[in-house]
Amino acid sequence: MRKKVIAGNWKMNKSPAEVEAFMKEFPKLVENTKNEVILCVPFVDVALALELAKDTNIKIGVQNMHFKDSGAYTGEVSPKMLEDIGVDYVIIGHSERREYFNETDDSVNQKLKAAFSHHLNPILCVGETLEQRENGITKEWIVDQVKKALADITAEQVEKLIIAYEPIWAIGTGKTATAEEANEAIHWIREEIGSLYGEEVAQKIILQYGGSVKSSNANELFSMPDIDGGLVGGASLEAVEFSKIVNYDK
Ligand code: 13P
Repeated sequence: MRKKVIAGNWKMNKSPAEVEAFMKEFPKLVENTKNEVILCVPFVDVALALELAKDTNIKIGVQNMHFKDSGAYTGEVSPKMLEDIGVDYVIIGHSERREYFNETDDSVNQKLKAAFSHHLNPILCVGETLEQRENGITKEWIVDQVKKALADITAEQVEKLIIAYEPIWAIGTGKTATAEEANEAIHWIREEIGSLYGEEVAQKIILQYGGSVKSSNANELFSMPDIDGGLVGGASLEAVEFSKIVNYDK
């Protein structure tokens, strides 16, 4: 039985003072869950979030990184720095990074390799636009994104990977994929992992849904057979609302 993994992606939100306020409330609201809880925070909040999450069941992640260990890359943060400070997770290839910051399948692949070599657990994001869905190429598109992201990644590494299926048309729009649509796409990803790495790996890998997840739809989505939790944007910013999503099964 795969565990459920529920991650918040705060995007470019919350100053350290707001992190303190959130962490005064949130840990006690989720302390009894058996689900894995992750907060992916902005870089300036990482040290504080790690400190405040100590002795809790909350893991801390970030939302991007460079693939090199160090060098003349002004403004970037390296996987080695993240490993040293104690970060557990890193989101790679979010559609907002692909769209606004020229993230490509190739840089996504390099970042995945760098994450694995620094003991960081990547959350790889894939997903189609509304136009692609309407043109009936969703499966082809997301399978291609997965294949390109995973070039030269081993089965042992893939078992530690989380893939979040995030249809771009459902991100921040209030439009959620139906539970059936989300499960269907996630099932395609699981099938692809099966054909690349074998059925055992396919049954182990955690596959999340992301896109307008809220406490009111979490139970329906996360109860689907292939959906192992969610990557939550807007609804992860508020402690009570996010705790209800984490505790969707209570
Ligand atoms: P929303 O939950 O705000 O739609 O964002 C989803 C997302 O992009 C998480 O990575």
